[in-house]
Amino acid sequence: MVKDEITVLITEEEIEKRIREMGAEISKAYEGRELHLISILKGGVFFTCELAKRITVPVSVDFMSVSSYGSSKVSSGVVKIIKDLDETIEGKDVLVVEDIIDTGTTLSYLMEMLAQRRPASLALCTLMDKPERRLHEVKVDYTGFEVPDKFIVGYGLDYAQHYRNLPYIGVIEN
Ligand code: IMP
Ligand code: MG
Repeated sequence: MVKDEITVLITEEEIEKRIREMGAEISKAYEGRELHLISILKGGVFFTCELAKRITVPVSVDFMSVSSYGSSKVSSGVVKIIKDLDETIEGKDVLVVEDIIDTGTTLSYLMEMLAQRRPASLALCTLMDKPERRLHEVKVDYTGFEVPDKFIVGYGLDYAQHYRNLPYIGVIEN
């Protein structure tokens, strides 16, 4: 049994309200078009489900699993694809949905790779952003919350695979 002290940073109600706003903003931006969501496993899935329900244009969803490659001390900017997409993104309006952008290593690499697959458009949506930690530049089109440089759990984010299911966003105190 794991026992960590977790304090609430963003409540379930605040998250719901913000996702509703983001859904409305995205629906407006893509009016008259179809949107292909790419959810980044595993953390991005929780946010993707809630966001997708708030988008009013037709939506399709695909999943991708990636992991940072090599030592965490050396930021090579290379990520390993654990699971690639099932469907082609060529000619589609694509929105990548992620839980958190931290150093930007994963997403800067991934966005460049996806751009090479010739989508009609490519944008990035993240529930959280830790801008202080950025090592690799990444253009974020939709951000839910800016969060401080602390270890965040909940709403998809884990600590050693625990706490993804917390309905709020919390910080591990140590
Ligand atoms: P980046 O490549 O450094 O931007 O890392 C992004 C990934 O690291 C996210 O998709 C998360 O899986 C993980 N991550 C970054 N910050 C946190 C955190 O505070 N708590 C849990 N996971 C995190
Ligand atoms: Mg992630």
